[in-house]
Amino acid sequence: MPPGSPTKARAPLTGEDPQSEFARDLLAGLSNMPRSISPKYFYDAPGSVLFDRICELPEYYPTRVELDLLSAHAGQIAQYMGPRAEVVEFGAGSLRKIRLLLDAMDQPERYLPIDISGEHLDTAAQVLRRDYPSLHVQPLVADYTRHLLLPALREGAGRRVGFFPGSTIGNFTPAEALHFLQMVGQALRGGALLLGADLVKDPAVLHAAYNDTQGVTAAFNLNLLARANRELGGDFDLTQFAHSAFYNAPLQRIEMHLMSRRRQQVHLCGRCFEFAQGETLHTENSCKFTIQSMQALARQAGFTPGPVWTDPQKLFSLHWLDAPI
Ligand code: AVJ
Repeated sequence: MPPGSPTKARAPLTGEDPQSEFARDLLAGLSNMPRSISPKYFYDAPGSVLFDRICELPEYYPTRVELDLLSAHAGQIAQYMGPRAEVVEFGAGSLRKIRLLLDAMDQPERYLPIDISGEHLDTAAQVLRRDYPSLHVQPLVADYTRHLLLPALREGAGRRVGFFPGSTIGNFTPAEALHFLQMVGQALRGGALLLGADLVKDPAVLHAAYNDTQGVTAAFNLNLLARANRELGGDFDLTQFAHSAFYNAPLQRIEMHLMSRRRQQVHLCGRCFEFAQGETLHTENSCKFTIQSMQALARQAGFTPGPVWTDPQKLFSLHWLDAPI
């Protein structure tokens, strides 16, 4: 459904469900100055469809380049993984990426995708079980940014290898990324992490990737407000907020915001929020790295950097990182 379509407002639920977590975080994020909200709330069903469309956009190079890197180097990556390895994927993203690895691996033992959305996970798991009958597919519904409890290695299994593609690591602040990598390093002890990281580059290329001509990224950003209207009974007027995405060069990150086109009031869960003209809700940071800055961060978190695969234009990088022992 395109953002801005009329939707029925539903009463907010109570208790520990994702919807009330969204309510809590959005109310808190609107109360803070400057206003901000975690990008994890982009990915409801319509948001996930929009994200898949972003990945197909001519301007959005990260997905294409990472897929090319994975298919070009899957054989070598599989050698690093070794026989009967198990893959732990953070976020059950694109099946295309994990398939490239599984197809190259020597008797992959188990695949453990971790995602907040159980629905997404179950579909992915079913498809993979059908296509890889000897693979143990064990989805875990969890918010991997909070805590990470993995089941014990299977009897006879090889190395445990984490897979965190797409440069999703860029959504964290540097301090959060360090904390996350430390936690992942502990969970993967003795194994390794295969990490995708988008690279610092010509700001014009970055700008275009987040300001596509078809407006898909704008719709993806605005879907956050549409979701608040759908799930929390908010009254955001989607025509009165503008998609704003720009490269913050000193901080080496793309920032996405939703900018109020005029002075206005918004109501949500019985509260009223006033937006000045030009005031924004900061919806995402997408940090960019150099190969050196990513390796330094990984080292700080206890990993030992191994090979890095990158494209000739140095748009994107794939890092092999050995976890602490
Ligand atoms: C999924 C976080 C890697 O930062 O490029 C794409 C999300 N936001 N276009 C990114 C996104 C706008 C994407 N990540």
